[in-house]
Amino acid sequence: MYKILKAKFIAPNVKSFIIEAPLIAKKRQAGQFVMLRVHDKGERIPITIADSDIKAGWINIIVQGLGKTSAHLNTLEAGDHLQDLVGPLGLPTHIENWGTLVCISGGVGTAEALPIAAAGKAAGNRVISIIGARNKDLIIAEAQMAELVDEVRISTDDGSAGRHGLVTDVLQDIMDEGIKPDMIVAIGPLPMMAAVSNQTKEIGIPTMVSLNAIMVDGTGMCGACRATVGGKTVFVCVDGPEFDGHQVDFKELGMRQKMYKKQEAESHKCFLEKQMKKLKTEQAEEVSS
Ligand SMILES: Cc1cc2nc3c(=O)[nH]c(=O)nc-3n(C[C@H](O)[C@H](O)[C@H](O)COP(=O)(O)OP(=O)(O)OC[C@H]3O[C@@H](n4cnc5c(N)ncnc54)[C@H](O)[C@@H]3O)c2cc1C
Ligand code: FES
Repeated sequence: MYKILKAKFIAPNVKSFIIEAPLIAKKRQAGQFVMLRVHDKGERIPITIADSDIKAGWINIIVQGLGKTSAHLNTLEAGDHLQDLVGPLGLPTHIENWGTLVCISGGVGTAEALPIAAAGKAAGNRVISIIGARNKDLIIAEAQMAELVDEVRISTDDGSAGRHGLVTDVLQDIMDEGIKPDMIVAIGPLPMMAAVSNQTKEIGIPTMVSLNAIMVDGTGMCGACRATVGGKTVFVCVDGPEFDGHQVDFKELGMRQKMYKKQEAESHKCFLEKQMKKLKTEQAEEVSS
């Protein structure tokens, strides 16, 4: 069991957790993730280690409540425990001094971009962060990112903060200003990573993406996280999660991600109904006491 030391919502439906895990904190590197189970009958889900403190022995994860397991996880509070936490898993991000590194993140992908931006800066790069979200309420970790990098630029789909537009528009602005990125790291929803990779392929800027394949065991045994990169089959959990964005078959990965959509939706609905029932019982008990 792994104790939750702190838990707080940092955006609608997005919660940040500090979890006691001294051994994982000691070993983890940028780009790595944990597989966790909320309870003993639950599924395992992969979540990136956003930060850690070796001395205090904790790791930080940031979770978006998308379906049943992540929504359940986001109901937990400080003092609660996670059933299992395995990690660090995946290959650490390959970092070098490229020159100018642009870290592009969308939605909760910014949590995953934080350790990569920090490692990029520590390696001597000039680091520019582009954070994109649908609206201003969904921008996370902007202040944390600003402490790590040289410059942060924001875009929102509805124009409620930063540049009105997409992260690809901000990347275009940067290049129009005469800045030539030497390396791009893109982390976020699959369509976003595909769009960035298309844009940078044309102009020949190396681009690394962090693939969010559906995972089951996270150890290379089950094959669930299979993807095609450069015409070859890879397992995202052990060969990645980061790959050359210009070589990824995004269409195939998108189809694989939707494989269990119906079952996921049913399971999520069932969980929400149970939560509503629990809330109503608690309210009724409060009124009668
Ligand atoms: C290496 C890696 C690191 C990740 N890091 C984070 C993180 O730091 N924070 C975070 O909030 N999420 C992260 N994810 C995504 C997270 O694992 C999924 O959102 C989670 O598995 C959803 O589980 P669920 O049961 O709540 O939702 P489900 O009911 O399984 O899914 C709900 C919807 O989410 C989408 N989905 C399902 N699984 C994934 C997946 N693996 N990746 C992307 N979308 C998915 C599908 O569109 C699906 O319809 C990461 C994924 C990977 C592979
Ligand atoms: S999750 Fe099973 S092989 Fe990657």
